Amino acid sequence: MNFLEERIVSDGAVSLGNVLKVDSFLNHQIDVSLLLQVGKVFYDHFKGKNITRVITVESSGIAVACFTAQLFQVPVVYAVKEMSKNLDGLLYKSHVYSSGGDRNYDISLSRRYLDVSDTVLIVDDFLASGVAVRGLLDICSQAGAKVAGIGVAIEKGFQGGGDALRHDGYDVKSVAIVDSMSSDGTIVFREQPDEA
Ligand code: G4P
Repeated sequence: MNFLEERIVSDGAVSLGNVLKVDSFLNHQIDVSLLLQVGKVFYDHFKGKNITRVITVESSGIAVACFTAQLFQVPVVYAVKEMSKNLDGLLYKSHVYSSGGDRNYDISLSRRYLDVSDTVLIVDDFLASGVAVRGLLDICSQAGAKVAGIGVAIEKGFQGGGDALRHDGYDVKSVAIVDSMSSDGTIVFREQPDEA
């Protein structure tokens, strides 16, 4: 097991509705050393791709994106879900259909911070059905930006979003891929090639 898989086993929990609770280190309390390690995995995988911006969706993706962008020495731009006074001028917008259909939302990103000159790394904490990443891909397409790949801390492989993106030709690098999990706490990770 790699460092993130070990942490999921020691401190994560499987809760109702196929939710993997990792709020003690990833998406509520944040273990910054762990996130730096996650960023290094993405850096090692995508270095040499001339990344100019790391993009994500608020909110939990932002921390992962910041540690990653620090290593690439590029800015983070995060798409916002709610309109805010910080957003003005022309925007790229995309509609995200949540997998359950119960939480559809729009994401917006300023045209000032993404354009045809960019090569983008999309980053998020979780990839489940992949609708949030699809929204970001739509925004990159509107901008004419090149997408170098997608970096995800935890992919829920059994929800299919990551494999669908790979099938579409995207380079998806997930630090941990959960292929199954059950309420008794059993978690099965997908074997991945060791890139070290
Ligand atoms: P998708 O974009 O990959 O399709 O995700 P989905 O709609 O299935 O999930 C909606 C939200 O729930 C996302 O966060 C996603 O990161 C998060 N999520 C999905 N599965 C899990 C899980 O097993 N455990 C945890 N902890 N989170 C999960 P969000 O609502 O956009 O919120 P935010 O936390 O980024 O603000």
